[in-house]
Amino acid sequence: MAIIGEPLDRKDGRLKVTGRAHYAAEMAVPGVVHAELVESTISAGTILAIDTDAAKGMPGVLAIMTPDNAPRLKQVKPAMQLVPGPALQDKAVSYNGQNIALVIAETLEQAQAAAAKVRVRYQQDEPIIDMDAELGQAYVPKEFRGGRRPPDSQRGTPDTAFDAAQVKHEATYTTPVEHHNPMEPHATIARWDGDRLTVWTATQYVSGAQETLSKLFGMKPDNIRIISPYVGGGFGSKGNTWPPVTLAAMAARMVGRPVKLVLERKQMYTSNGYRPRTIQKLKLGAENDGTLVALRHDGFSQMSMGNFGEYSEPVGLPSEMLYAVANNAVTHRLVAVNQGLPTYMRAPGEAPGMFALESAMDELAVKLDMDPVALRLKNYAETDPHEDKPFSSKVLRECYRQGAEAFGWQNRSAPPRSMRDGRMLVGWGMATSTYPVNRMAASARIRLNADGTVLVSSGTQDIGTGTYTIMAQVAAQALGVPVGMVTTRLGDSTLPKAPVSGGSMTAASVSNAVQAAAEALRDKLFGLAQADARDGFSGVQTASLRLDRGAIVAGDRRLPVAELLARGNTDFIEAEAESKPGDEKKKYSMHAFGAQFAEVRVDPDLGEIRVSRFVGAFDVGHVLNAKTARSQLIGGITYGIGMALLEKTHVDPQTGGYVNANLAEYLVPVNADVPAIQTIIVPNDEHTSNPLGVKGMGELPMVGVAAAVANAVFHATGKRVRNLPIRIEDVMA
Ligand code: MOS
Repeated sequence: MAIIGEPLDRKDGRLKVTGRAHYAAEMAVPGVVHAELVESTISAGTILAIDTDAAKGMPGVLAIMTPDNAPRLKQVKPAMQLVPGPALQDKAVSYNGQNIALVIAETLEQAQAAAAKVRVRYQQDEPIIDMDAELGQAYVPKEFRGGRRPPDSQRGTPDTAFDAAQVKHEATYTTPVEHHNPMEPHATIARWDGDRLTVWTATQYVSGAQETLSKLFGMKPDNIRIISPYVGGGFGSKGNTWPPVTLAAMAARMVGRPVKLVLERKQMYTSNGYRPRTIQKLKLGAENDGTLVALRHDGFSQMSMGNFGEYSEPVGLPSEMLYAVANNAVTHRLVAVNQGLPTYMRAPGEAPGMFALESAMDELAVKLDMDPVALRLKNYAETDPHEDKPFSSKVLRECYRQGAEAFGWQNRSAPPRSMRDGRMLVGWGMATSTYPVNRMAASARIRLNADGTVLVSSGTQDIGTGTYTIMAQVAAQALGVPVGMVTTRLGDSTLPKAPVSGGSMTAASVSNAVQAAAEALRDKLFGLAQADARDGFSGVQTASLRLDRGAIVAGDRRLPVAELLARGNTDFIEAEAESKPGDEKKKYSMHAFGAQFAEVRVDPDLGEIRVSRFVGAFDVGHVLNAKTARSQLIGGITYGIGMALLEKTHVDPQTGGYVNANLAEYLVPVNADVPAIQTIIVPNDEHTSNPLGVKGMGELPMVGVAAAVANAVFHATGKRVRNLPIRIEDVMA
């Protein structure tokens, strides 16, 4: 029975389109009251006084929480999970839009009206806003990748090899501040019952939220329950437990009522991180035949001032492992400005980093007068040159081949401005994609009921990707039941622990946990059958037993599970199991790959750029659901088109505030911006990365898209644009 991989509809699809899937802000919590944030209007300085007199007396106002009266949190070492400063713990202001007070009232409108009457006096300092002007102040990250590896790496002698190279390319590429902009606003409802805290919140990590709040409030994790059954997108912004979650819990304790805090779109720009601006200096040196002899990638990313923890955009990581080049150097530096703490956003590191590397490779191909695909194949890494290990699996060569064939790449005329459709300039560009295969320990529990129905649960999250559905598919196949008999539960910290839904690791982590739990359950059932002499299963080897449509089967003997359970006087049988990485990361370099091909049409007079065709071919290992997989791939490529042509958060150089903090002026792709996208999943029957051979595909399909589009724009126009997003004025003749 092949259920894994089938293109089944989402189990939660009907609930979502009929409005019956309840998101955090929609939970019916009796007696709930409403909170509204007050944010700083300066970028640097100190709060001298917060005048709440006018606001306090307004109708419905229950409390106004400021740094003067806010409950003190435990002092913890700042980390990405713990951003305590903006939770009203002190009066320092280090960015425009920092959370500095919270008004709690009976209704949302009352809270909003009162928040507008809160007056703040500041002592203002001169803010530092322009990252580019501060490059001289760049510093070495203290905890790059959580301190798990140094920020710099080098092999061979990249600088001397570059100097001696026959063909050289050197350029700087930049990517702007971008915001995640999930459709669902960040929202939290917090309720105290004595010393127990329940939090309904939009999160990519229920057990992370539990752990963070337990540290900040000095509570036992078991006294905190996080509930998050549906998440309307996160893209990284809901991976950490940002101050508004903590503030809702503080406020609920202060007023002795459940408190709801839903961020407005504008507040989502200043309270939950963002992708930092990057400046990347690339150097590529090659022989005349295209063999790379030197690669240098120096990355600078924007950081915040203040003591909020540290985030580095790891732009150089793919440059270490993608190509077989003997002389290689990568560095990461931070540049602090008066902005909030940045964070990971879809394909952090890889998305901006591969824009730079794959644009540079295209520029090198032009200098070499070489086909861009041929240049990549010339430098194809058969093993990981950085880790000096074999790949767990890699069918990237086949991605290039199948992607190129589907796109019709062989018909490309190489010179820029040489392809037209009527008066439109046509450009074809390509780029490589890669993203690490991640996996962390995850647990799942499966219950098989006497009536044949199955409940599979795990404390993971479905952030819109299809986790509900793939969990059911894995359980159904392993237990030999139709998928319609399986119910999934997730998004609750009381369920067996699972990792953050980030780093593209949910499918790889949780599906293997479900598989392990199903196998444990199967073994239990087989053990019961073998222990019972009545049915002739006692002498049968476990390997000869299987589960089929609610019965244990060996040859032509069938023992219905219902009967087995009835004999034991129980309605169900249950098993829980954990699945965790073994030593595969020690033995192998584990990555997913892809090849991205873009066609653009550029109006030669108006400079308008449209992506008219897109083909992505991917090495993602095994697919659990062909339909949700395709949705992931289309979604990622769409996000990449936005990165290439539209997305940028504009910073006011005077105030450091964001001037386009709304979906009218922060441009994201709409249907009219996105052509029919062809996705290809290249077969890769691997089981080396993890038992089910799932490589993950949450972030991979975005990587390389911006470069493929930029390379296509160059091919169409002859204009090389190295700063994203590419705008009309960049390509106007
Ligand atoms: Mo993703 S940016 O790892 O949530």
